[in-house]
Amino acid sequence: MEDLISKYQKYIERAVSDYVFPQEPQTLYDPLRYFMQIGGKRMRPILALMACEMFSADFKKAKNAAIAVELFHNFSLIHDDIMDAAPLRRGKTTVHEKWNTNVAILSGDALLIEAYKAIANHDSKVVGEILPLFNKTATEVCEGQQLDMDFEEKSIVSVADYINMIAFKTAVLLGCSLKMGAIVGGANNNDAQDLYDFGLNLGIAFQIQDDILDVYADQDKFGKQVGGDIISNKKTYLLLTALNESNPEQYTRLEQLLLEKDLKIKVAGVKAIYEELNIREKANRKMEEYHEKAMQNLSRIAVTAEHKRPLKSLAGFLLGRDH
Ligand code: IPE
Ligand code: IPE
Ligand code: MG
Ligand code: MG
Ligand code: MG
Repeated sequence: MEDLISKYQKYIERAVSDYVFPQEPQTLYDPLRYFMQIGGKRMRPILALMACEMFSADFKKAKNAAIAVELFHNFSLIHDDIMDAAPLRRGKTTVHEKWNTNVAILSGDALLIEAYKAIANHDSKVVGEILPLFNKTATEVCEGQQLDMDFEEKSIVSVADYINMIAFKTAVLLGCSLKMGAIVGGANNNDAQDLYDFGLNLGIAFQIQDDILDVYADQDKFGKQVGGDIISNKKTYLLLTALNESNPEQYTRLEQLLLEKDLKIKVAGVKAIYEELNIREKANRKMEEYHEKAMQNLSRIAVTAEHKRPLKSLAGFLLGRDH
């Protein structure tokens, strides 16, 4: 990662590897040790630390909030991989495949509880300020995840419904990470809220990028099954745009492909339609639109340009990523 980011990344990597899970029962905690150590960009805790440092000399004050959002994120991924029947995560076998679904459910639950313990490590005044936000966010992520699953079965989903769904399943956690970091750092309400909105728009851009990578990434770099969204009929920005912009012949082909049982034919067929309709570029433009909104939110915050550089740099890195 670029230099402005590596300081926070090293710090959080160390904090994660120092995090001690109980030993027994091993079938509950081994999956957590495994999952937390197989990598990940650690973007959410880095956001929390950067937000804290915008308002305070010491970003380490936000350590517990930062750990909490990473624990929560990993909990959500273990369950998400069951829900999406995903075989791969970060280039490794997913928990429900390596162990089994019951283990993945319960170890995911245990990880969620660890996240709450990390929040509770802050002093009580800070807990009083950040816990309601964390609770609200956790509920919204569940709501977004359910909408994502419901949309698999729906033939018509609007772009507005899609944006709302990804705001909940993905973007609110970025907003929450930033706002918790800002609160710990002593930000005023306006600045904390602008940072939340920055995270929300960045998160929407980030999820559109994730949808693009799910189709076009290099499997080895991406670390997840390429084509997984097409296989499970996810209503991504790409698929919605293709459904909206296809001519009657393409629309019929697309409808048939959604029912196709041969997965190779299905993925190749949908990609061919994306090609015909220039979908990748359209998704990139949509992503850029939200990136720009995020930059506008950032520009409103009353700190020096120097203090905004780490977040700008992280946003640039995330939206140019290949994994
Ligand atoms: C994956 O998040 C889930 C999405 C919201 C797309 P990340 O891409 O941040 O996953 P890791 O933690 O870096 O593996
Ligand atoms: C995941 O969305 C969002 C959450 C885990 C809450 P995706 O299902 O697109 O994430 P990936 O692609 O599996 O990482
Ligand atoms: Mg999912
Ligand atoms: Mg998934
Ligand atoms: Mg995805």
